[in-house]
Amino acid sequence: MKEFKDKVVYITGGSSGIGLAFAKLMAGKGANVVIFARRQQVLDAALKEIYAAGSAAGQKHACLPLDVANREQVKSVLSAAVAKYGVPDVLVNCAGRAIPRYFEDISYEQFDETQKVDLYGTWNTTSILVPLMKERGGYIVNVSSIVGFIGIFGYTDYAAAKFAVLGFSEALRSELKRHNITVSVLCPPDTDTPGFAVENKTKPPETKAISASASLMKPADVAGALLKGMAKKEFIIIPNADGRFTYIMKRLLPGLVEMVTDSQAKKVQQSMKKPA
Ligand SMILES: NC(=O)c1ccc[n+]([C@@H]2O[C@H](COP(=O)([O-])OP(=O)(O)OC[C@H]3O[C@@H](n4cnc5c(N)ncnc54)[C@H](OP(=O)(O)O)[C@@H]3O)[C@@H](O)[C@H]2O)c1
Repeated sequence: MKEFKDKVVYITGGSSGIGLAFAKLMAGKGANVVIFARRQQVLDAALKEIYAAGSAAGQKHACLPLDVANREQVKSVLSAAVAKYGVPDVLVNCAGRAIPRYFEDISYEQFDETQKVDLYGTWNTTSILVPLMKERGGYIVNVSSIVGFIGIFGYTDYAAAKFAVLGFSEALRSELKRHNITVSVLCPPDTDTPGFAVENKTKPPETKAISASASLMKPADVAGALLKGMAKKEFIIIPNADGRFTYIMKRLLPGLVEMVTDSQAKKVQQSMKKPA
């Protein structure tokens, strides 16, 4: 998909970070953008930014409060959105969050919530919108992560959800092809967003060390890479060269990738054992 003028674009998690950057990019291309997230104040502020990015004659943007983890709410909010703004041509499932911790510090409640937001949230919106979108085709982007194909220290609950998003998207891609709906999965690396700042607060030292060895992207650059990937209908869209290299290495030489990440973790563990 290359042409977005007058298209209807729904973005969950569109009030912040990567979702907001993509919402602004779409507005700039002439699309009508509808964003969904939980906090009304943040949605209102984001909507202003979206209008500032694109407000040509006839262009309309909107924001609606929604918790993607709540299936009943997803049903009612999306029905209202479709009635008012139309069936989306593009759906971006970007709502998500990570709370990195040692496995033993992750409660059942945290695990459950991570699946409900990052995985079930994607299922909820997609399952409600696909029957409507297939009438005229469209594009669905599910946001996973580098942690969606490499299980990184500190992310047991998040990796479970994001790996699942990748598998879900792969199966969905092959099913929706006949309805002219393209499915892509975006796997961003570390990106400088409000969500990433929250994530940094709970990272175990080993996770911090692994993260420090990778570069940090800007949300606008991730959004730009997504757009490019969509133009080429790439299934897996990995926004930076490091990430693409990791993806290839993980497939070709998984043992080597394990060796590198294990040695980064070991170095930190050894330094923690040393008396100060
Ligand atoms: N930043 C990174 O380094 C990075 C790397 C890889 C993948 N990702 C993925 O990229 C996506 C966006 O992350 P980000 O860093 O841009 O995060 P962010 O700045 O925290 O934005 C997250 C967005 O999702 C919304 N959200 C969170 N929980 C929600 C829920 N239950 N229902 C509806 N909306 C919800 C938030 O708004 P409310 O809180 O108001 O609901 C916000 O709009 C996530 O799926 C994340 O896992 C991020």
